[in-house]
Amino acid sequence: MRMPTSSGSFTITKAVIPAAGLGTRFLPATKAMPKEMLPVVDKPAIQYVVEEAVAAGLTDVLMITGRNKSALENHFDRVGELETTLEEKGDTEKLEKVNFSTDLAEVHYVRQGAPLGLGHAVQRARMHVGDQPFAVLLGDDIIDSRDVLLSRMIAEQGLRNASIVALMEVDPSAAHLYGIATVEPTDDPDVVRITGLVEKPTFGDQLSNYAIIGRYVLQPQIFDVLDNTPPGKGGEIQLTDALQELATNNIAGGVFGVVFRGRRYDTGDRVDYIKAIVQLAVEREDLGPELRPWLKTFVATLD
Ligand code: UTP
Repeated sequence: MRMPTSSGSFTITKAVIPAAGLGTRFLPATKAMPKEMLPVVDKPAIQYVVEEAVAAGLTDVLMITGRNKSALENHFDRVGELETTLEEKGDTEKLEKVNFSTDLAEVHYVRQGAPLGLGHAVQRARMHVGDQPFAVLLGDDIIDSRDVLLSRMIAEQGLRNASIVALMEVDPSAAHLYGIATVEPTDDPDVVRITGLVEKPTFGDQLSNYAIIGRYVLQPQIFDVLDNTPPGKGGEIQLTDALQELATNNIAGGVFGVVFRGRRYDTGDRVDYIKAIVQLAVEREDLGPELRPWLKTFVATLD
């Protein structure tokens, strides 16, 4: 149901989480398991993402799944045998951890069929989303829960009645790994208007240092645009290409970027994945005190 807010826009309740990529950078770990299920400390990456969606008020989650989807479904469902064993042992602490992911959100699933690109994956959400704005969170991209991003993007969507993407400033040497945006300033130093977008530009073609990261709050008109978006970079239907169409033709309010300066981990990349584990583990109360001194000693041996 659409819920009008005081500004006349609509409360966003739906999060779409694409998790149907092949994860080839992580083979062979991803041969029989989606990369979104790789553990970051003691939770699969996708649980952090669902927790982030829920924290921003999005309790209706649609996951776009590919092959090996059962691991994802099982993680957000009851596992009777495990629950019974923990109950019998009286291990309430572990039982709570098991039940936490089950009760986190109302999770729905749709298959992508073939991994034809992120744009194609998002297109699969059309029936579920309908005609209201919705959020897209990439299942392998973790935003540190202490840094605000998604709720800010949702607020901007309501304010500007446009599509919103998250941007991060990246080193020019890394620009070829991202969708890169050309931007104009707005009256808000953290928000820019996007005038153009290129998916993974070749070196020298890059438009700016503003890279799109895996959070979007989109107008439903994106679905019509995706219908007519041909395969782009890598032969895949690119969400960036559809956003470029919204931005340059000012469709449904155009596209704005919220500039994020917090902590973000791309767990689909092996080095970033390892950094995420180390960084999140040393900060944990239960693991940090043991890990920090070991890490210092280890680092000292590196030279
Ligand atoms: P990536 O490009 O990082 O995923 O997509 P990938 O293709 O699995 O990665 P590698 O290069 O082979 O290792 C970003 C997000 O979009 C999803 C992925 O699951 C990931 O969350 N995705 C990508 C889909 O759901 N479907 C696709 O067809 C492509």
